[in-house]
Amino acid sequence: MQKFIIEGGKRLSGELKLQGSKNSSLPIMAAAMLAQGESVLKNCPKLTDVYSASRILNVLGCKCSVSDTVVINSEGISGTEIPESLMREMRSSIMFMGAMLGRLGECTVSIPGGCELGPRPIDMHINALKKLGAEVSDEGGRINCRLRGGRAKGTRITLPFPSVGATENIILCAVTAEGETIINNAAREPEICDLCGFLRSCGAEIHGDGCGSIIIQGREKLHGCEYTVMPDRIAGATYLSMTAAAGGEIILKNTCTAEMEPFLSVLEQTGCGIYAAPDTIYLRSGRRLKAVRDRIRTMPHPGFPTDAQAVLMAALVTADGTSVFEENIFDCRYRHTAALVKMGADIEILGKVAVVRGVKTLHGAEAEATDLRGGAAMAAAALSAEGVSVISNISHIDRGYEKFEEAVRTLGGNIQRV
Ligand code: EPU
Repeated sequence: MQKFIIEGGKRLSGELKLQGSKNSSLPIMAAAMLAQGESVLKNCPKLTDVYSASRILNVLGCKCSVSDTVVINSEGISGTEIPESLMREMRSSIMFMGAMLGRLGECTVSIPGGCELGPRPIDMHINALKKLGAEVSDEGGRINCRLRGGRAKGTRITLPFPSVGATENIILCAVTAEGETIINNAAREPEICDLCGFLRSCGAEIHGDGCGSIIIQGREKLHGCEYTVMPDRIAGATYLSMTAAAGGEIILKNTCTAEMEPFLSVLEQTGCGIYAAPDTIYLRSGRRLKAVRDRIRTMPHPGFPTDAQAVLMAALVTADGTSVFEENIFDCRYRHTAALVKMGADIEILGKVAVVRGVKTLHGAEAEATDLRGGAAMAAAALSAEGVSVISNISHIDRGYEKFEEAVRTLGGNIQRV
């Protein structure tokens, strides 16, 4: 098991080009299966989750290669079943359910893996696919879905909560359905718009993405295209929080600044100097950060993103004053706090609230990454701490950050993978 050894207490400084978005790339890779012929994806990050998606495509008979670009040719698609071992590698394996139904009319999957953030059911996905005409049966954990008549029928679906994954699965199934589908209370995350942007480039007709209601006119066939995946707003939030925590300055290039606004508007309250252009963000962190006065409530987009909660907390543990987080998306997304406390942070968890009383400094410690963003938060805290930290279980971090240690080193951070 690999580890990061991090020697902290040094200011960071440098320029970074932000990676492409993980949470866009994965549903877009699943969507490429809907397009006849070849799709070429630019700006896909090289991550273990992207390789897992590639393996799934290849198992299903598509040809997928990952190098500077991701090239997917769906001509040979034949399989309708994803082995349980591949389903377990990541949460986004569930995106293939809607895509397989959209292309082949049937599929067999199982409960997906991914970070353990509390219960992550797929009831909204299943109920929506049933509304689109799928017959679903569960045989010992294997979920078989088959569309009546081989093709989905457009319908109106109102989600009880704007689930990102359920919205994506509905879109993937509905773009080739017969007739019109309307998704009410749809997720508005930028990655949903990116998926729709890709599908539109393939010939799909989708309106309203980024708003509460998405309207899809089903098309019989889609074609391949070339598409550039959006930048990763959460990796961006991570490198900005890391620099804010350690002190120093960063020029972040290739950003999606408008989509990062819900995060930036909170980070700004810590007193960092932030200058933002549409595709570049400059941050300078000089003095001790200020605590954030308003409660930081994670909410569906355009609220504060749950994925940035842990990394921002890593910066606020040494701020002057008390900051309060409220995690409203996942039941169990404070698992990183034990490691931060081990480094000297003062954090009290009261149900879905975390009270962070800023301390003057952190000290190095041994910690185990608990999940993707939690692991990144531990690394950010370790870079601001005095002394050496050892972070194990870093396969979590590798699932979401491309060449993490190279990025940290570009900023002058002292990090080694052993
Ligand atoms: N939920 C249900 N039933 C469902 C679906 C969701 O109860 O059928 C609940 C979940 O348990 C959770 C809430 O609804 O409490 C939100 O889940 P959502 O479906 O919106 O999230 P997701 O699709 O599982 C994606 C991202 C997450 C990100 C969330 C929220 C991907 C691969 N994952 O997850 O990203 O936190 O949206 O924005 O896109 C990460 O990148 O580290 C990560 C966890």
